[in-house]
Amino acid sequence: MQTVTAIYPGTFDPLTNGHLDLIARGSKIVDKLVVAILRNSEKGTPLFTVEERREMITEAVAPFDNVSVLTFNGLLVDFARQQGAKAVLRGIRAISDYEYEFQMAMMNRKLDPELETLFMMPAEKYTYVSSRLIKGVFQLGGDVSSLVPPLVMDRLKAKTAAE
Ligand code: PNS
Repeated sequence: MQTVTAIYPGTFDPLTNGHLDLIARGSKIVDKLVVAILRNSEKGTPLFTVEERREMITEAVAPFDNVSVLTFNGLLVDFARQQGAKAVLRGIRAISDYEYEFQMAMMNRKLDPELETLFMMPAEKYTYVSSRLIKGVFQLGGDVSSLVPPLVMDRLKAKTAAE
């Protein structure tokens, strides 16, 4: 029997309920799902270190038997190959995500024609949720507690208290 491993890559700064919703959906359709945190992100200075993000995601995915958390550097296709993965899982929230996701999927296909990209949609209630908005709204005093796991909420509060 063939085992299908998929990689769910991202920056996850921080993990949101939208990410978690996608992990739950993805974990049902593949045998193994590896959440992969990009170490050398070009997105500027992150709020949480890679290690903090790894800890938060590991705790949040503990209920899923077939989900693990790793970090990676360099090309996603190389990491996917190392993991023996057949697919990359990505979430699409709205049409605005499509262009960026399409370009990445096509570039990854060019780099490794054997690797497929699977797109899934999160629950409607999370379609507007992004890590960037969560950070921005939280830093301005907005309530984001229903949009991130409680353990992420605690870390967000601890971060601001420490500043
Ligand atoms: O959550 P994000 O920031 O939208 O995730 C982007 C990510 C990590 C999937 C993407 O930046 C990536 O795969 N980076 C690794 C470098 C790479 O493989 N680039 C070529 C693919 S276009």
